[in-house]
Amino acid sequence: MPHRSIIEPFRIKSVQSIDLPTVEEREKALRRAGYNLFGLHADEVIIDLLTDSGTGAMSAKQWAGMMIGDESYAGARSFYRFEKAVKEITGYTEVIPTHQGRAAERILFANSVSEGDVVPSNTHFDTTRANVEYQGAEARDLVIAEGTDPSALLPFKGNVDIAALRATIEEVGVDRIPMVMVTVTNNSGGGQPVSLANLREVRRICNEFGLPLILDACRFAENAWFIKLREEGYTDRTPREIAQEMFALADGCTMSAKKDGLANIGGFLALNDGELAAKCRNLLILTEGFPTYGGLAGYDLEAIAVGLNEVLDENYLRYRIRSTEYLAEKVYDAGVPIVRPAGGHAVYLDAKTLLPHIPPGQYPAQALAVELYRNGGVRGVEIGSVMFGRPLPDGSESPAAMELVRLAIPRRTYTQSHIDFVAEVVIDVAMDAGEIGGYRIVEQAPWLRHFTARFEPT
Ligand code: F0G
Repeated sequence: MPHRSIIEPFRIKSVQSIDLPTVEEREKALRRAGYNLFGLHADEVIIDLLTDSGTGAMSAKQWAGMMIGDESYAGARSFYRFEKAVKEITGYTEVIPTHQGRAAERILFANSVSEGDVVPSNTHFDTTRANVEYQGAEARDLVIAEGTDPSALLPFKGNVDIAALRATIEEVGVDRIPMVMVTVTNNSGGGQPVSLANLREVRRICNEFGLPLILDACRFAENAWFIKLREEGYTDRTPREIAQEMFALADGCTMSAKKDGLANIGGFLALNDGELAAKCRNLLILTEGFPTYGGLAGYDLEAIAVGLNEVLDENYLRYRIRSTEYLAEKVYDAGVPIVRPAGGHAVYLDAKTLLPHIPPGQYPAQALAVELYRNGGVRGVEIGSVMFGRPLPDGSESPAAMELVRLAIPRRTYTQSHIDFVAEVVIDVAMDAGEIGGYRIVEQAPWLRHFTARFEPT
């Protein structure tokens, strides 16, 4: 067979126009937003890689599903279709819909995490960390050492450091560890996958100490595809079978259907523990909605039910993972430092290496993200010391492990020429990296400050 490109396995049925604002408009927008890209209006951005969450294109089948959405308050048909789709993939007995992933986290942690507890994970994402900390507990990241080294080439850089997990449990004591979490793929660690071998090891430790294991399953299908590509013995298994095997190793999951649910909104908490699920449902009724809709419309449940099956399609996953890798290759070949290998949903630029003249306290990744917007109207997101830096008693801050700019690729949304354009902007900015200056924070919130902080160039 001659070499053939891996193409987008769909054709476009509906479009939304995009436009590049002028240099002056971009400059003005940056000043208005306090150099925080979360403050930009979407029409001020041409290619929006802020997040892959809820930003994907739905299929015709999902839209068709929305037309049969059942909006009954209790016992909607759509809920049972949704529940069936979740049960078939995860195998968990209790399925609780939520409006998005963080609502599942909040409901779970409010009923299982107490002050002084420690929740270990490979790497907590920002909302997960914040929800753990909100309960007065500590979110502890235990990813393998290579997981925070952008240049270490490893197939499963999202793996949990098993020795560190054991040491943490022995140090803290089982009574203060309500659960172990594993994020698949490891978003804050570069969208890197976790192997089944590692999940099995984590399971073994959890069994030994009698601890529940919960997956943060937002990108479970991308993780399953990496296992198929990279883990010995899985080449001939379907993504669905691999996903089922992943879920079977855990006791439950939190899920944002805005990622691998291929939906624009939604999520769920799924568990095997009926008693815990009952408590979670009670809180759900208080803050989200009745347990058969959980804050979602019936049509959202339909979109998710269809999306959860489409996301496991091999043609889709082949295209998805390859198109992210394509952007990574283009910028890396031009000499731009990135987290390697490419993540599943995003390319992570390594601002620490690209901008060694900007200290972490002046937020090199924030500076790089601003520059990508200024140069080409491309919006990424800082995943570095703005997001994860912690204030110290002396007024300084402990920096994040890595200073990254994440270019997250919305699912089924941009074509190859859009991605070529992004690569051109990144390469252009990197050529003049020495000219980029740092930032200081002039305004910030007590938690999740990256969403609303305002900055000034130093
Ligand atoms: N866990 C992970 C690993 C995530 O990436 C996210 C969201 C959540 C939980 C929370 O889900 O947004 O539905 O409440 N990540 C998005 C991102 C926002 O841009 O990576 P949510």
